[in-house]
Amino acid sequence: MRVLVTGAGGQVGAAVVRRLHELAAGRRRDPVEVVAADHGLLEVGLRDRVLSLVAGSEPDVIFHAAAWTAVDACEDDPDRAFRVNALGTRHVAEAARLVGAHLVYVSTDYVFDGRLARPYAEWDEPNPLSVYGRSKRAGELEVDPAWTTLRTSWVVGTEGTNMARTVLRLARSEGPLRFVDDQRGSPTVATDLACKMVELGLARRPGLFHVTNAGETTWFGFACEVLRLAGLDASRVEPITTAELEPPRRAPRPANSVLDNAALRLSGDGLLPPWQESLEAVVGELV
Ligand SMILES: NC(=O)c1ccc[n+]([C@@H]2O[C@H](COP(=O)([O-])OP(=O)(O)OC[C@H]3O[C@@H](n4cnc5c(N)ncnc54)[C@H](OP(=O)(O)O)[C@@H]3O)[C@@H](O)[C@H]2O)c1
Repeated sequence: MRVLVTGAGGQVGAAVVRRLHELAAGRRRDPVEVVAADHGLLEVGLRDRVLSLVAGSEPDVIFHAAAWTAVDACEDDPDRAFRVNALGTRHVAEAARLVGAHLVYVSTDYVFDGRLARPYAEWDEPNPLSVYGRSKRAGELEVDPAWTTLRTSWVVGTEGTNMARTVLRLARSEGPLRFVDDQRGSPTVATDLACKMVELGLARRPGLFHVTNAGETTWFGFACEVLRLAGLDASRVEPITTAELEPPRRAPRPANSVLDNAALRLSGDGLLPPWQESLEAVVGELV
């Protein structure tokens, strides 16, 4: 089996590549060959590059983790957001059809407006508030129903820029530690997400799945937990509202983007562990 990973240099892409290598190492029959395509190797906005790389490597499964994820910067450059996140996904989908590959697309909790008073299930109506959310939703619409789409949220890991690293960096400075307490979501550890992505993708499971660690919190609650796990003083963290953020963020965020992992739950598939449990290992490595 040959597997191509786009965005292989990013948080999620790198975790998927690592998971695939782990699987490959444990398999004697049906070996897994991994083509890890980072941004340097593959620019998904360029149709010809995507088609030629995919035609040349003839993967059975493509994990499409490449995206422009700078949520605030997307507001200032919607063309780039749509070129990468929507059109880039169209190119990857076209290439997948060309070679008969199964595609796994990673989407986001930011496709929802956050006005629901309960967690969002796969069958709730998206209504993105930001350019990033709209461009990722447009990407979802490029994916065939026979392929796999995963929505996840608040991804943290030991690589790349993420909130666990930001909290620890800020904690080393003298300045105030303020985090918003009016945005709710489910932190998701990249290694857990990658395991489920690989499981669903290699099984060619069709349809849309919400995949997050279990439980929910606010960014304030998340920051306190990171400090607690790092053995630092969590009482330094102050809760603020989104309106009090200085400077204000350009992209609006959903106030509630907790994802009900309903498709996994109702089909009896394993759910990911509570976020605090998985975060412990991440913080352990980061400190
Ligand atoms: N992080 C989260 O909290 C979160 C939450 C929900 C969903 N997601 C989704 O999960 C997926 C992976 O995100 P992530 O957290 O791993 O983000 P990430 O660390 O920013 O990784 C994205 C990767 O895509 C690459 N990339 C950007 N533009 C590209 C282009 N035009 N062509 C090819 N590659 C390009 C980036 O390379 P450069 O850095 O070199 O540009 C980066 O390596 C994305 O689809 C994202 O929307 C993430």
